[in-house]
Amino acid sequence: MEIVLSGIRPTGNLHLGNYFGAVRSFVKLQHDYRCYFFIADWHSLTTHPRPENIRQSVKTILAEYLACGIDPEVATIYVQSDLTETLELYLYMNMNAYLGELQRVTSFKEKARKQPDNINAGLLTYPCLMAADILIHRAHYVPVGKDQEQNMEMARKFARRFNIMYEREFFPEPASFHLSEKAVKVPGLNGSGKMGKSDGNAIYLTDDEKTIKRKIMRAVTDTGPQEPNSAKPEAVANLFALLELVSERDTYDCFNEQYNLCNIRYGDLKKQLAYDVNLFCAPIRERILEISSNSAQLERVARRGLEKARAGASKTIKEVREILGFRS
Ligand code: TRP
Repeated sequence: MEIVLSGIRPTGNLHLGNYFGAVRSFVKLQHDYRCYFFIADWHSLTTHPRPENIRQSVKTILAEYLACGIDPEVATIYVQSDLTETLELYLYMNMNAYLGELQRVTSFKEKARKQPDNINAGLLTYPCLMAADILIHRAHYVPVGKDQEQNMEMARKFARRFNIMYEREFFPEPASFHLSEKAVKVPGLNGSGKMGKSDGNAIYLTDDEKTIKRKIMRAVTDTGPQEPNSAKPEAVANLFALLELVSERDTYDCFNEQYNLCNIRYGDLKKQLAYDVNLFCAPIRERILEISSNSAQLERVARRGLEKARAGASKTIKEVREILGFRS
């Protein structure tokens, strides 16, 4: 079976945009491919986070993915820093990566500009670690956003370079799987663009009923349509888009008709939307609370994930060592 792998940044909590974007796709993918999902905590060290923050965010993100439906028996979900086999491959990747090509990576240049006092070697060799993450499982597909395309090109280049140097087809060249083209785009609440972490723009899966209501009641609208069947301005279209995701078809049609007849009351629309968003989020929210309060369960899941990840990873390392001329 073909292998899919994805690295998850351990930053913040999941919001509805993440849910309808990557997370729901992962939940589906786990049944069609051999999936590896890992929490990229090593990568987060480039910004020098506090240990307690790493510990907390890894736990949070693990609990949230499980609550959303990643099944640790179906997929393999693990913490990057547990799988130390990756480090050895990272070292080999570094030996065949050239300074010039690493310096040309846009995200390196951007990060160097953003943190001029902390342009560390880890930042420079970020693509080597990412390639090691992927190649350790000899993955075929990697679901990533557009922003990761250059890193993916590097991973393919390193795989190809290794295969050429050692004259064998050892690593498959990992293809990017663009979720963003298939995934639903969830708009934000501040009138434009998509749901993101900027202030008040996102509904988090852990938001309680009151918070959801407050955020939605405050969402940007306009003074209402002046003529029947007018086009919806972006802010209003966004509320309808959310309604379409979480409400019954009838509810959507009913408000849409009111809009077209110019007798819509945004207050009513928002109340209904808040109600339906809460209905949608409540079971996920309860599972997140339940799972995060059970440290023993999280520990078991992480350990089981590591065990499954290690099975293939140690085989890759053993073979790579032989190929390179080391004792295996
Ligand atoms: N660089 C990815 C991001 O910022 C995270 C990541 C690390 C990753 N290693 C990976 C993604 C391997 C896919 C495969 O989102």
